[in-house]
Amino acid sequence: MKVKFMDLGRQPIANNFLESRENIDNEYQFHLTVCFDEKTKLVSLGEFVPPKLMFNDSYVYHASLSRTMRSHFGRAARLLRSEFNPACVLEIGSNDGVFLRHFAKETTCAVEPCGNFAKLTNELGYKTYERFWSEKLADEIIEERGRQDLIYAANCMCHIQNLHDALLAISKVLSDEGIFVFEDPSLLKMIERGSYDQIYDEHAHIFSVTALQNLLNMWDLDIFRVQEISVHGGSSRIFACRKGTRSIETSVDDHLVKEHAAGLHNVAAYQNFAERAEQSKNQLTGLLTELKRRGYKIVSYGATSKSTTVFNYCKITTELIDYIVDITPDKQNKFSPGVHIPVVSPEVGFDETVDYAFLGAWNYEREICDKERKFLETGRFITHVPYVRILEGENP
Ligand code: TMP
Repeated sequence: MKVKFMDLGRQPIANNFLESRENIDNEYQFHLTVCFDEKTKLVSLGEFVPPKLMFNDSYVYHASLSRTMRSHFGRAARLLRSEFNPACVLEIGSNDGVFLRHFAKETTCAVEPCGNFAKLTNELGYKTYERFWSEKLADEIIEERGRQDLIYAANCMCHIQNLHDALLAISKVLSDEGIFVFEDPSLLKMIERGSYDQIYDEHAHIFSVTALQNLLNMWDLDIFRVQEISVHGGSSRIFACRKGTRSIETSVDDHLVKEHAAGLHNVAAYQNFAERAEQSKNQLTGLLTELKRRGYKIVSYGATSKSTTVFNYCKITTELIDYIVDITPDKQNKFSPGVHIPVVSPEVGFDETVDYAFLGAWNYEREICDKERKFLETGRFITHVPYVRILEGENP
């Protein structure tokens, strides 16, 4: 049985930055709720948004724009190459090719439903199927290129609404000795950090190792290693293979034990998390309102999907946040989804007139504080993770 444990209210598509008043009037909205499946232990959204509304030609998130993500994927590629030496590689959800470009063009292919990115990586010379991942596509890839030794997916599996279809397709295309490696935000980290802003339309599921083990086992796949990784506010990298082809490492049990200790097998942990989110909302709006009352100028740093959830859940508008600064050209000079806060480039908006900046991109705190030393001489960042506070000259 699925139990609803959280309600984040009406929400827009997290990455749907709006160009004009006309777009604002026709903005798509849905009811963002979260459920726990008592049987599989999977945490999923109560309502899914049609994938084509989220992943299309105008998808704006470019992984390569951040130094943190470029080095993260470079390191991941080097590690996988040196340990497993795959003869052929398939990446599902290749975005702008940030991982792909570390592998040979002839033996690597990709699947990417966002046309702007599929075009880019095809032009780079990597065969990219501009499609959603499916069993039909898996059959085509087997026909054209054979089964694959390494299947890699970063921040993509959690986007796939029908996991059974996706895993069936993966179990077909994986070679006998092949490995399937995927990384997504970690449910354990989300619960520990109270980072409810991991919840938005694209994240159809937030994975625990417990739930993944239940699901992968249904398709005769074993999880043989789990790594904790720091990106995206705390993620897990899962290594899977055909049942019985590799020995299961201790990291798998270690993670299962940690999750059990945190109560992730039981709905009570999630109900407690929802209550903490409500408190965080009151504290954040309280802090911003007080700073505004004292006459300070507050902006937001990073027009992230996460901040779409925060602003719409907390009903934070231009009454509190003057504008958002973001380095992504496709987000600039537009309005943020739902609450319609203007987005500008940091060159235009991040100057000495800013007193406080809410860290919408809190998961890049280190990179941003490094870069914004000048701002920190007079201004301060505000974060809500793991609790609402002004970062008082803390050295990240
Ligand atoms: P993400 O949390 O989904 O990775 O999105 C990060 C967003 O933050 C993306 O729009 C780029 C933006 N950003 C900045 O504007 N400045 C920065 O220094 C960094 C690291 C990210």
